[in-house]
Amino acid sequence: MDKLIINGGHRLRGSVRVNGAKNAALPMMAAALLLNRGHRLVLRHVPDLGDVRTMCTLLDTLGVRSARDRHTLTLSVEDDRAVRAPYEIVKTMRASICTLGPLVGRRGEAHVSHPGGCAIGVRPVDLHVRGIAALGARITVDHGYIVARAPARRLRGGTVYLGGAFGSTVTGTANVMMAAVLARGTTVIEYAALEPEVQELALLLNAMGARIEGIGSYRMTIHGVDRLHGIDWTVMPDRIEAGTFMTCAAITQGDVVVENVRAEHMTAVLETLSQMGCDLDVGALAVRVKGPRRLKPIDLNTLPFPGFPTDLQAQFMACASLADGISVVTEKIYPERFAHLPELSRMGAQARKYESAAIVSGVRELHGAPVMASDLRAGAGLVVAALAAHGYTEVQRIYHLDRGYDHIERRLNAVGAKIRRVADKVAAAPARETGTG
Ligand code: EPZ
Repeated sequence: MDKLIINGGHRLRGSVRVNGAKNAALPMMAAALLLNRGHRLVLRHVPDLGDVRTMCTLLDTLGVRSARDRHTLTLSVEDDRAVRAPYEIVKTMRASICTLGPLVGRRGEAHVSHPGGCAIGVRPVDLHVRGIAALGARITVDHGYIVARAPARRLRGGTVYLGGAFGSTVTGTANVMMAAVLARGTTVIEYAALEPEVQELALLLNAMGARIEGIGSYRMTIHGVDRLHGIDWTVMPDRIEAGTFMTCAAITQGDVVVENVRAEHMTAVLETLSQMGCDLDVGALAVRVKGPRRLKPIDLNTLPFPGFPTDLQAQFMACASLADGISVVTEKIYPERFAHLPELSRMGAQARKYESAAIVSGVRELHGAPVMASDLRAGAGLVVAALAAHGYTEVQRIYHLDRGYDHIERRLNAVGAKIRRVADKVAAAPARETGTG
């Protein structure tokens, strides 16, 4: 297991380029399951991440071979009979659930291990199941596997409501969309997720021959077709990685140009950076972020898109821990997503959790300390804090980080950070940890 040794207190300067979006690429990779044998899907700007490698392994068990040439991934359907997504793989990455919809939609049957919970919360899949059942699938649970079977091996169109206690569902909308594109008849999804990654998946499916209307609205209409064809597609930029780099500039009084950014995907994030006192220069494909001498406090609520993204909550909490005043950070998506809070406290942050909110009383200085990443974005938040802390911070279990960030230390060092990746010989590998994502 590796860890990062971060020597904090250095202003970041220069430019950093954002990769393709993990949370767009993963469901797009699963869309390859909708193709007939002999067809292939080419995805460009696919980041080199642990989760992408995991999805390649999962697709391989389902007859889809992957070939990577730097950031281009070619997925070829060589066998379209397998229908079982094994527990051993699914338990490591929640996004594996995205195979459920395309498997039952194209192959008429799916056995997908229930992904279970993870470090950020319970993470049910009841909306996924409700949605696919509304398309005529018979759903049972067998030894921890969700088993979905289409009568006569083909789903039928239906009306699906995807509203839950916390809004809509991102991968749930992806799953139902992918189940519906080959169904007999028309499907209406009420209360679809609006996230850019969902919109991008719908655009990809239409490019593959699907007929989806209402993209980017709460009501999507999908007219089923008989088959899809392969396509060559470029994955959208990762708005969460972009926001992570922006907080690194903000917290270090830095001056960084973040390149390959779709600003229209980041309105809430850019507004929050401005509220914290950052000076922004927003261009067509890049954003320049200048951090102030002292950040201002924020009142932050995580919300479904176009609200503030929960995946940037930890990174902004790191910034709030050094702000000049008291910030309130409220999690409206994952009420338990505060595992980074006690780790930030080890660095001197003054933060307390109350129900689904944290009160952060800004301090003048953070101090380096050994800390542990509990999940992908909590780990990112610790790196952000470490960049501004005095002295050395040791971030352990960075395999969580590597699931969602491609060699983050190399890219931060290129703009002035002082980070070393070292093998952590002492830390024992965790007995069993379920993956977030
Ligand atoms: C996606 O997860 C992202 N993952 C998550 O990013 C992100 O945090 C999340 O959306 C919210 O934006 C991928 O896209 C691979 P949800 P997803 O279904 O789809 C509840 C990262 O760090 N819910 O939109 O699993 C759920 O508990 C990861 O990159 C149900 O109640 O999230 C949550 O409170 C972490 N029933 C809310 O809805 C369901 O069936 C939103 O969950 C499904 C979800």
